[in-house]
Order: sequence, then structure tokens, then C-alpha cells
Amino acid sequence: MRLLENKTVVITGASRGIGRGIALVLAKHGANIAFTYSRSVDSAITLTEEITNLSVKCKAYQSNAANFEDSQKLIEQVLLDFETIDVLINNAGITKDNLLMRMNEDDFDKVIEVNLKSVFNMVKATQRIFLKNRSGSIINISSIVGVKGNAGQSNYAASKAGIIGFSKSIALELGSRNIRSNVIAPGFIQTEMTDKLNQDVVNQWISGIPLKRGGTPEDVANLCLFLSSDLSTFITGQVINVDGGMLT
Ligand code: NAI
Repeated sequence: MRLLENKTVVITGASRGIGRGIALVLAKHGANIAFTYSRSVDSAITLTEEITNLSVKCKAYQSNAANFEDSQKLIEQVLLDFETIDVLINNAGITKDNLLMRMNEDDFDKVIEVNLKSVFNMVKATQRIFLKNRSGSIINISSIVGVKGNAGQSNYAASKAGIIGFSKSIALELGSRNIRSNVIAPGFIQTEMTDKLNQDVVNQWISGIPLKRGGTPEDVANLCLFLSSDLSTFITGQVINVDGGMLT
């Protein structure tokens, strides 16, 4: 049985990395996929073809999740193309790391806008559909850095901790309408985002992971599958780590 047959899932920032992994795993389980990307048209076209080959519907939208109007227009267009939305996955995110001493105002604001404000924008745009359907699953990708903090990432940690507070609050607000809101907090996952780190930093992260390896986009995607599906209908307001045991 395919767990997400005939469900429509919106995923932000899915042309690469974790978002791409989520899109592919969910599509393999029957979900129709509407995903956004910011710049990489070629990767978006390739992913659309890969997903369409899985006999589900897929469409890519160039859209800036940090922009309120863009997010409203995006969801209007997705509704025209797919008729409804069942699951929203807020995955888009960036880093602009620096010690506080060297972090400028723009680096702080930009990370908050892309990582945190985007979640507000997308949930605001989508919630009326979930309210009308009396059903919906919102999955927000935070980070273990939002739970424990990390030197050199105060902007990123603040944005990811903000996601947790936001998600728990809307879980309380929307639960009576059967709309669930959960957070995934990945640990060290090997993607283009972490490829930027030097090998010493990578080794240091991995040595602190009980399972002694970095995660893959599929490790995160498999939890998304569960939280998107009817296997998790009594789970809301949770933060679930996918970190190889790092925060244990
Ligand atoms: P990535 O850098 O490979 O992918 C991020 C995606 O977000 C890209 O496709 C990018 O185009 C998109 N994006 C960036 N700004 C956007 C915007 N304004 N509007 C729409 N899309 C935008 O990063 P990765 O590793 O795949 O990360 C995905 C999510 O997982 C992020 O939220 C990240 O913070 C989070 N995460 C990643 C971890 C890791 O170790 N890779 C660990 C914990 C959390």
C-alpha cells in the first residue's frame, strides 16, 4: 500500500538536499508534489521529471518563501493546479554563520526571514485550505541547533528555535480542527549545506554522533513520510530529532 496515495504535498526549497530527498520519498509513496525552488531551474526540471516518472503529478514553482506575497500567490497557483493541499513541509533554509562579534545586521535579518518568517508566510497562506478540509499536516524543518544552540550560529539557532515555538503554538490553535503541526530537528545531514564545512568540523560533528555517521536526506524524508501519513494522526506539537542520537 502506498501511504500517501492521492495526497498533495507542498515542499519549500526542494530542488536539492533534504527537500529533494523528501520530495522523492513522498512521491514514491504516491504523493503528488508541488515544490518550490529559488534559483536552480535545471535542478528543478530534473527533479520534476524524476518525480513524474513515478506516476504522480509534480510541478515546480520559483518562489521566495521569505516573501509574504510570493507565498500567497504560490498557494493560490498550487490550488489551481492541484485542487487541494494535504501536507505542508517548510524545508527552505539558509546559513550565514559567524561569531556574534563579526555577525552583521543583514546576516541576522536574512537568516530569520528565510528560515522563520517563511514558515509564518507559508502557514498563513495554507491554513484556510486546511481549515476548510478540517484536515492537514504541517511539518517544519528545524535543527538540533535550535534546541541546543551552537557557537557561530546564533542567527540560525534563533531562527530554528523560533520555528519550534511557532509550531507548538499553532498545534494548540489548530488541533481542534484536526490540523497537526510537528517539527523535525535534523542533526548532521550530508547535503550541499554541510559540504561548505571543512573536514575538521565534519569529523568533530561525526565523533559526537552515537551512530558514528552523518545522516542522509532519506533519513529525514522517512520521518516526513510518517508525519504526512495517517500513521501519525494522534501526533501533534512534537519536536522529533533525526540526529543519530547526538542529543542523547
Ligand atoms: P540546502 O542548502 O542543500 O537546501 C536548502 C534549500 O532551500 C535549497 O534548495 C535552496 O534553494 C532553498 N531556499 C533557500 N532560500 C530559499 C527561499 N528564500 N525560498 C525558497 N527556497 C529557498 O540545505 P539542506 O541541508 O538540504 O537543508 C534543508 C533544511 O534542513 C534547511 O531548513 C536546513 O536549515 C535544515 N537542516 C539541515 C541540516 C543539515 O545538516 N544539512 C541539519 C539541520 C537542519
